[in-house]
Amino acid sequence: TFDYTLKPHPTIPAPEGPLMVCILDGFGENEFKDGFNAVHVANTPTIDALRAVPKRFRTIKAHGTAVGLPSDADMGNSEVGHNALGSGQVVDQGARLVDIALESGKMFEGDGWKLISQAFPTNTVHFIGLLSDGGVHSRADQLFGCLRGAASRGAKRIRCHILTDGRDVPDGSSVKYVEQLEEVLAELRGSGCDAKIASGGGRMKVTMDRYEADWMMVKRGWDAHVLGKAPHTFTDAKTAVVTLRGPEDAIVSDQYLDAFVIVDEAGAPVGTIEDGDAVVLFNFRADRMVEMSKAFEYEEFKAFDRERHPKGLRFVGMMQYDGDLKLPANYLVPPPEILHVSGEYLVKNGIATFACSETQKFGHVTFFWNGNRSGYLDAKLEQYLEIPSDKIEFNKAPDMKAREITAASKEAILSGKYKVIRVNFANPDMVGHTGDLAATIRSVETVDACVKELLEIVDQVNGRWIVTSDHGNADDMVQRDKKGKPLLGEDGKPLPLTSHTLAAVPFFIGGRGLPDGVVLRDDVPDAGLANVAATTFNLLGYDAPAIYKSTMVEMAA
Ligand code: 3PG
Ligand code: CO
Repeated sequence: TFDYTLKPHPTIPAPEGPLMVCILDGFGENEFKDGFNAVHVANTPTIDALRAVPKRFRTIKAHGTAVGLPSDADMGNSEVGHNALGSGQVVDQGARLVDIALESGKMFEGDGWKLISQAFPTNTVHFIGLLSDGGVHSRADQLFGCLRGAASRGAKRIRCHILTDGRDVPDGSSVKYVEQLEEVLAELRGSGCDAKIASGGGRMKVTMDRYEADWMMVKRGWDAHVLGKAPHTFTDAKTAVVTLRGPEDAIVSDQYLDAFVIVDEAGAPVGTIEDGDAVVLFNFRADRMVEMSKAFEYEEFKAFDRERHPKGLRFVGMMQYDGDLKLPANYLVPPPEILHVSGEYLVKNGIATFACSETQKFGHVTFFWNGNRSGYLDAKLEQYLEIPSDKIEFNKAPDMKAREITAASKEAILSGKYKVIRVNFANPDMVGHTGDLAATIRSVETVDACVKELLEIVDQVNGRWIVTSDHGNADDMVQRDKKGKPLLGEDGKPLPLTSHTLAAVPFFIGGRGLPDGVVLRDDVPDAGLANVAATTFNLLGYDAPAIYKSTMVEMAA
């Protein structure tokens, strides 16, 4: 059995009060310091003061290979970010593992592929997922690899059910991805496979809900993909997307397109999901696929009325999304194995933790933090608090639930029950994803005010704190050319950036309970999110686990 013993740190004493780890989701330190950097523009006296403390502020890497993504052109995201923060290690992530499985051909030899290939000669193979090259939840080139792999291995009939993005990629780009997919499908038809797009909708409206924030999103997806029912029908997907986006002066963004179904000339859906069909959820990332997986896989299902639950489906995920629930049972590529996460060290050493966020990020500070494990590691030592998120577009309420999270966390800090307090503020990320600059500035200001309150409470109980982030987002709200110049649309207005950024993130330490001598080292310049866990153990007064990436702090001589 693995040895989880923690040894006292030779020079850093244990704190009297708790250690708070506060994640400002989507808050990057961007090199572009102009009017489109909401972090820069926002009035943030608390964070500004933290930046000014010598040897207690630095930036850390939050994107690319530093968090297990295929390349340094890949922006960070909350899944890989929280995995790295919580586990102290860098592991190859889903995007990379699928690339390897496709390149090596291993995907086509696995049990998941064998299962779907049973449907190739006689039934339809359905692919459901996010159509873009954002690389956060899925990648179009991986879908194309799967489609070609199926057709060349005998699939007679293929149907694609596409979720339009505009969140990890620029709004409006969905038309381009539909065109690319149509080209691949035409190529397959040329080789004798009947291949079409059958249904779709915007990712924030259809299918891709997370953490059970709104099951009706999943129902809308089920109705469109499985039953062939939606508020809109079209005879081709490009027309669907262009039409649903609406006129120039009242654009509906790709994220929020209504569900649609593609029909034939007689008005019949071209690709409902029937008994014995194969279904592939082609996203590799878990959070937004768990609910649809349950809808397909569970016999007993109460979240909504499925009307019809096809029998004998050959159902697989691109990956297994939840290893504890074994969901789905079958998958194309084994998920990353993230072992010995920091939470396990804490509970094995009797250290009590409180973790809190609102619904939209709740699984981030629990499930992703714990290496994609659902539920408690040890319910006796942990308290996870979810504050229900609003069910609206977050630029309409940019404060989100920051005040409620702050109030609950203050109470937990003052209770004296917990040695570790873990908090995630969703605002800079969730509001940043709307592309609304003014609302995002406001969201950053709100979070700054909440951080101030929390730091004061931690000081009151002689605690220590880490304030950091998981990836950039609010720090750049405009699309730019290669030289960094903001891009303008045809109407002369700046083109909003809804996605994450490649920016590094801030890393602050402090607290009244932190001895003056504890400072950031200057010999780990390349540190990234995976270096935070070791640092956390040091600030708790322990040596860091040897398997973790190195600490960023030391006790000055
Ligand atoms: C989303 O799922 O909302 C975005 O694709 C990624 O955002 P997150 O990684 O911050 O959750
Ligand atoms: Co995000």
